[in-house]
Amino acid sequence: MNILFAASELTPYAKTGGLGDVLAALPAALRARGHSVSVALPLYRRLRESLANLRRTPLTVAVELAGRPLTARVWQGVSRDGVTVFAIERDEFFDRANLYGAADGDYFDNAARFMFYCRAVTELALTLEPRPEILHANDWQAALIPPLVRAGRLPFKTALTIHNLAYQGIFPAAEFPLTGLAGFYLKPHALEYHGRMNLLKGGILFADAVTTVSPGYAREILTEQHGCGLHGPLAARREVLTGILNGIDADRWNPATDPWLAANYDARRVSAGKRKNKAALLNELGLPPALAKQPLLGLISRLTEQKGLELVLDAAPELLKRGAGLVLLGSGDARYEEAWRDLARQHPRQVAVSIGFNEPLAHRIEAGADLFLMPSRFEPCGLNQFYSMRYGAVPVVHNVGGLGDSVANGRDGFTFSGYHTASFLAATVSALELFNNARRWKEMQTAGMTRDFSWEQRVPQYENIYQGLTK
Ligand code: ADP
Ligand code: GLC
Repeated sequence: MNILFAASELTPYAKTGGLGDVLAALPAALRARGHSVSVALPLYRRLRESLANLRRTPLTVAVELAGRPLTARVWQGVSRDGVTVFAIERDEFFDRANLYGAADGDYFDNAARFMFYCRAVTELALTLEPRPEILHANDWQAALIPPLVRAGRLPFKTALTIHNLAYQGIFPAAEFPLTGLAGFYLKPHALEYHGRMNLLKGGILFADAVTTVSPGYAREILTEQHGCGLHGPLAARREVLTGILNGIDADRWNPATDPWLAANYDARRVSAGKRKNKAALLNELGLPPALAKQPLLGLISRLTEQKGLELVLDAAPELLKRGAGLVLLGSGDARYEEAWRDLARQHPRQVAVSIGFNEPLAHRIEAGADLFLMPSRFEPCGLNQFYSMRYGAVPVVHNVGGLGDSVANGRDGFTFSGYHTASFLAATVSALELFNNARRWKEMQTAGMTRDFSWEQRVPQYENIYQGLTK
């Protein structure tokens, strides 16, 4: 099959979270199965600077954006994972420091930026030879593609994957002309949403198949509580909605070969390997070497409401009283950055906080931490719980969405139900207690480290969906 993915992130060239990781690994896994796969992104400044083989092609696409005739040049390259990358050049939109916005908020023209992107990708798909059969859009930034295909009766099948329903691409109705769709599409049966326009809603209603990134989240988003206002449209598409758990890039996240670690290790040498990595991590983060004897708790996260950071901040005094160390790597909302910096200032011998985006440090935290905390309020899938299991950092997770689907309580990690500090604390304290039983702890680490989280085993589920669309 010939599939063109449309998404706003691709690791390592343009990443803010798990979306980029999925877009790096899933297309490559499909390609390894013999499919023709490419990915189309905006030509961000970062992408141009970091994907060295990206070249301008003679291809251009033309889009009339709310009365402005605009053309875009198409660039082409090959990702680290061997997948063809197309990039849509339009410097006034994409030649910026960040993908979506700066510290003071989202870019003011995100509607124009991403609607231009979707429309350009649709035009590009029409000119490609051989022509893709399936356009696979991801999240709101690409969600206009299914309505465009439907409205234009274009010769493609469309799939939409929802990585996070909390971000929908909601804009004032006045921006609707940017879509290029007939006024009829700004109605409740289509993109209209409480007097505004909602791009993700349009994608959900018009895609031939809708997927999300875990079976648990697929069930949750049909409920009013977790449906973020879109449970109605999702219920209307229930027949074509599937939850497929994400996989991981098992080569990039492999403690036996990871080039960023102080020492490589596998399940047979987990205790010695983690001891060395923990010592190196404490040193790197300026924590006292004596902390190595205590359990070390790790967190790596976008610092947003979603990630349950309040629970950790609330429980921290009790956990620190028990002697644990705590390391956090993250960036995001200023209020969380402040709160974590404060905690580190109050407990400089037990807590280290690194604010920023730092991929090598993320790997070293997985390798050095004994426990990994993911008390997310909600979590469509989550990738860090897989990475931590693979690195022998036993995860403590809130039993929601993909976290509930991926961690087996008492076997390879700890889950807690009910979003409360008390339940989070109880689970973490049980983990700390088990940590003192070296034999059982190692069993738990080994259970996680020897599980197969690879994309190879998920790919047949995507193939089924594509086959259903093209037969
Ligand atoms: P989400 O996509 O909601 O942020 P995931 O768990 O799916 O959550 O994916 C997060 C990804 O981003 C992981 O690869 C994680 O290691 C990475 N990540 C998050 N914050 C940082 C950071 N500050 N530095 C490095 N990597 C980070
Ligand atoms: C989103 C979700 C996360 C998921 C990732 C990749 O960012 O928040 O749970 O793992 O997308 O699908």
